[in-house]
Amino acid sequence: MIKTFPEITGKRPKVTVVGAGFVGATAAQRIVEKDLADVVLVDIVDGVPQGKALDMMESAPIEGFDAKIVGSNDYALTKDSDIVVITAGLARKPGMSRDDLLKKNADIVGGVVSEVVKTSPKSILVVVSNPLDVMTYIAWQRSGFEASRVVGMAGVLDSSRYASFIAMELGVSPKDVCAMVLGGHGDSMVPVPEYSTVNGIPITQLLPAEKIEEINDRTRNGGIEIVNYLKTGSAYYAPSASAVAMVEAILNDSGRILPCCALVKDAYGIKDLYCGVPVRLDRSGVKEVIELKLEPNSLEALQTSASHVKELIAVLA
Ligand code: APR
Repeated sequence: MIKTFPEITGKRPKVTVVGAGFVGATAAQRIVEKDLADVVLVDIVDGVPQGKALDMMESAPIEGFDAKIVGSNDYALTKDSDIVVITAGLARKPGMSRDDLLKKNADIVGGVVSEVVKTSPKSILVVVSNPLDVMTYIAWQRSGFEASRVVGMAGVLDSSRYASFIAMELGVSPKDVCAMVLGGHGDSMVPVPEYSTVNGIPITQLLPAEKIEEINDRTRNGGIEIVNYLKTGSAYYAPSASAVAMVEAILNDSGRILPCCALVKDAYGIKDLYCGVPVRLDRSGVKEVIELKLEPNSLEALQTSASHVKELIAVLA
């Protein structure tokens, strides 16, 4: 008998990606193509994670990576993962807000986390399922992990969208744009122009206020803009790239400062709530939440956004 799947030896870092849909499979692909870790792709649909993993494995000779990927419908192979990326859930359809997904995805994410804590008790959870801030909170509650090991992906994506629109408008390289979006991953997210620059030059010196406001609006609606084009699903190229940027920062112990959904114990006038804030990511997960000095209107918008997250959590209680 020849081998059906590659062997995961445990000698490389191991990342489990739960949900082999658009976001999960694309994240898995990015992780192995970058040789960051071996990947176990898990989904409830029989055959899908296995088929996608094998398909990706068969691209290794062309793409030239050594990382291994396998697919599974259970968690046995995920044992002792360093990071678990949770993308399981339903995606948005046109006319559906992220909040409509709330209850369905809460059950799915809660169930996934219960499995993960049994097999990978020392892992770091990177939550991607929407509505993101609430799902990250649920993952934290359900796992019993310290908050530093439960983090959500939203700010990296929203900031990348913001940076893309700034680059498009100015006709500059996206590589030089560093933009920041804070708050909940929803309509009330907070683009922060005062911390958005082109190679250090504040965008407030490069764009008139009305243009910045238009770009802020487009950023807030960045997800729905894609949903309206796709009609049958939501974005996944930028979301998967964002989740993998966080995985890379954690595995490489990089100390990158990225906007992520993290437990804000007491900062920005927000207490004990998961919400998008700048954090320092290293091998321990969220090393620290960074409290910036914000303009009064940005601070107020962040607090309003946080209160919206709080309301959603209350719906589930
Ligand atoms: N365990 C494992 N996988 C599950 C479970 C579960 N309990 N429930 C659903 N899934 C799987 C589905 O079978 C599907 O393959 O999750 C996958 C979701 O994939 P898609 O429907 O393609 O959705 P995707 O676009 O990947 O988005 C996933 O990320 O960005 C967010 O809003 C988005 O919440 C959504 C999530």
